[in-house]
Amino acid sequence: MKFNLKGKNVIITGGGSGIGQAISTTFAAQGANVHILELNIEHAESTVNLIKEQGGVATAYHCNVVDQKQVISVVDEITAKKDIHILINNAGIAHIGNIEKTAEDDLDRVYNVNVKGPYNCMYALISKMKKNGGVIINMASIASNVGINDRFAYSMSKGAILTMTYSIAKDYIKDGIRCNCISPARIHTPFVDGFIKANYPGQEEEMFKNLSATQPIGRMGKPQEVADLALYLCSDEASFITGTDFPIDGGFIKLNG
Ligand SMILES: NC(=O)c1ccc[n+]([C@@H]2O[C@H](COP(=O)([O-])OP(=O)(O)OC[C@H]3O[C@@H](n4cnc5c(N)ncnc54)[C@H](O)[C@@H]3O)[C@@H](O)[C@H]2O)c1
Repeated sequence: MKFNLKGKNVIITGGGSGIGQAISTTFAAQGANVHILELNIEHAESTVNLIKEQGGVATAYHCNVVDQKQVISVVDEITAKKDIHILINNAGIAHIGNIEKTAEDDLDRVYNVNVKGPYNCMYALISKMKKNGGVIINMASIASNVGINDRFAYSMSKGAILTMTYSIAKDYIKDGIRCNCISPARIHTPFVDGFIKANYPGQEEEMFKNLSATQPIGRMGKPQEVADLALYLCSDEASFITGTDFPIDGGFIKLNG
């Protein structure tokens, strides 16, 4: 079987929702033992139940990726019993606004989750991963690559994800650790529904249509489509790929304009 993850232990952040949930269920279906680190433990448990109903193996851990002590403690708890082969840094939050609408607190909040979170997870895990080698995927965004209106803090954070990915890929290539990032355009998840609801009340349907149309292909992506790309990148079939960003964007970066 291609893209087989049997015997692989995976840590995924933010696996309780959207893209993270799709990655968790997809990896478990390919035989991986999935460990979900989540702020929202109820959502993480729902994903775990979904996986178990399908005959897979998964465990939920309450963890705020912003808190380095918590991350180290959860990672130590997991790695005391088993080696981890794959890390998916997926948890992330959004903020809408240009720099004038980005208060210091907004900037710090986005930085803490989107930049320090992945740093904390890699910091806690990478020395342990060196033993067997492994794969890291960081969830970037089209905002890492091109200017997006009104996304000052978010773009800053996703730009950092891109360059963190290059840095890790270079520093750990000799240890057999591959590190890549994925840059989705708009993917239809609770993340998208949440910000439409919060920022455009009463105009939800119109905004959904507008956001769909910004992808030249005419729709938003599906979490499963991102999960399938992540599966490929984490599988042995992708063993020649490291230090690379993978847009999955319905043509957004190259075909707009
Ligand atoms: N949906 C999109 O259009 C889109 C596009 C490009 C990139 N992305 C990126 O993909 C990733 C997942 O997005 P999504 O749309 O599935 O989001 P989502 O909001 O549906 O899910 C994110 C999950 O992360 C968890 N989380 C948030 N903060 C956390 C923290 N501090 N510690 C632990 N868990 C935390 C949330 O509880 C939630 O379950 C994010 O990094 C996002 O920036 C999303």
